[in-house]
Amino acid sequence: MAIYQLIYVSSATETFTREKFLDMAFVMSSENTKVGITGMLVFKDGNFMEVLEGEELAVKGLFGKIEQDSRHTLVSVIQEGEISTREYPSWAMTFYNPQTEEYEHVGSPIQWQDKL
Ligand SMILES: Cc1cc2nc3c(=O)[nH]c(=O)nc-3n(C[C@H](O)[C@H](O)[C@H](O)COP(=O)(O)O)c2cc1C
Repeated sequence: MAIYQLIYVSSATETFTREKFLDMAFVMSSENTKVGITGMLVFKDGNFMEVLEGEELAVKGLFGKIEQDSRHTLVSVIQEGEISTREYPSWAMTFYNPQTEEYEHVGSPIQWQDKL
């Protein structure tokens, strides 16, 4: 079965410290694993970029919730459609730390085994 991929960007409506971003991102990580969604979430300079990959209904269902989340605004889809294999077979999170001027990559300990 084909994989559905959706990529969007948005702007945070609240201040996200490193801790706050990681707390939120880890909750999402386990939620996504439950429904077979992989991808990545990046936060930099007040903006998010997220890649969601999985079954079409799962991706669209999740995105429907994300779009209405008041923690961000100006949610703009930059790409969506079917792909033949996952480009992001696990879940990854990246926080740009303005203090150190470095991207901190936080991997999920859970690897989704692609059964689709
Ligand atoms: C930038 C951003 C990215 C999000 N990404 C995800 C995600 O990948 N997975 C997820 O389950 N929730 C994500 N959420 C949270 C959802 O918007 C929503 O709060 C969550 O799915 C719980 O919804 P529910 O309580 O209606 O089930 C994200 C929220 C924001 C602001």
